[in-house]
Amino acid sequence: MIKLRNKVIGFLYRNILKPVFFLFDPEEIHDFMTACGELLGKSSITRSLTHYMFDYSNKSLQQNILGINFVNPIGLSAGFDKDARLMDILPSVGFGFEEVGSFTAKPYGGNPKPRLYRLPKEKTLRVNYGLKNFGAKVLHEQMSEKKFAFPVGISIAKTNTPQTAQVQVGVEDYFYSYSTFQDVGAYFTINISCPNTCEEKPIFAMPENLNVLLAKIFSIPKVKPVFIKLSPDLPEIQLQGILEVCQNYPVDGFVCSNLTKANKFNHYGKGGFSGKAVEGLSNALVAKVYKFYGGKKIIIGSGGVFNAEDAYRKIKLGASLIQLITGMIWQGPQVIGEINQGLAEFLKKDGYKNISEAVGQGNNF
Ligand SMILES: Cc1cc2nc3c(=O)[nH]c(=O)nc-3n(C[C@H](O)[C@H](O)[C@H](O)COP(=O)(O)O)c2cc1C
Repeated sequence: MIKLRNKVIGFLYRNILKPVFFLFDPEEIHDFMTACGELLGKSSITRSLTHYMFDYSNKSLQQNILGINFVNPIGLSAGFDKDARLMDILPSVGFGFEEVGSFTAKPYGGNPKPRLYRLPKEKTLRVNYGLKNFGAKVLHEQMSEKKFAFPVGISIAKTNTPQTAQVQVGVEDYFYSYSTFQDVGAYFTINISCPNTCEEKPIFAMPENLNVLLAKIFSIPKVKPVFIKLSPDLPEIQLQGILEVCQNYPVDGFVCSNLTKANKFNHYGKGGFSGKAVEGLSNALVAKVYKFYGGKKIIIGSGGVFNAEDAYRKIKLGASLIQLITGMIWQGPQVIGEINQGLAEFLKKDGYKNISEAVGQGNNF
């Protein structure tokens, strides 16, 4: 019954709604969908209707990770809900968690428009937002008034200005958001890999600078798990350096990965690339990080998940949780339930009682 429901919704989305949406500017559609989601989240009636249309649950998908309960492993990746407006509706859509932001110390209107593009043949988005957000203080006030029905991660980055390219200024910028959000959200992600800021290369992905940043972050008592979001394009030696630096601090895990800036996409223009363009790189990063730590750190796999097979592949490589954006835009919102149902079937077929048993079981790197 649930499969049929999802098939019908998916068919209608891909054949009617998506072709119409794809006629318009991607940012306008993104803003429109965010406004719709926010509205649907306001009333218990619309939340229940949404739940009825999309939800799927299965005990084998439940996990307690670092003290946080996840009813399923599928989350919304950072950057879709930039201003934290969808926390009320996303649990009804079937998401197990979401990451809001990235937030920065100062508000920023983003890079000049247009700054979001679809590459339909590649099943990819080109993203050049440049960390548009209202700033940590405003967003903290807005979020403090709310109760969340699922875990909400807080993604923090540094304000996209030339000044924050100085290490000390950048560290203070991150630390302002980090200290502001101590009492809100289930975990932090420190985004050191935004590919569309004014700096040539993210400076805190340099191991020596990351060391300075983490020393400051962990100079105050840790109140919730801390993840680091990595670029999929890191040279091997730089990745090793980052992972070694993180060993000296109580970092809980990694989000693998952010958007790619791989040279072969340069001809499309500025920005970072999501979806199928980053999937292979993101999978390789999941596998490498899992192997480096021998499975002792939690990995959130992100990049190019369009169906249950894609999600299961990341889990087998070492991811405990999965995030997505582009797959939902391409396949429709029912894809969350479809992925969860597909994962439950894979687990059963492979003889696992819980998803945590499958994590890293196919890591042959
Ligand atoms: C429109 C858009 C905006 C994004 N903004 C952010 C951001 O602010 N912070 C961040 O850490 N990642 C950001 N990302 C990257 C995503 O969180 C994710 O890592 C990436 O898109 C790969 O997942 P996907 O292939 O499922 O989209 C953004 C991605 C998209 C598509």
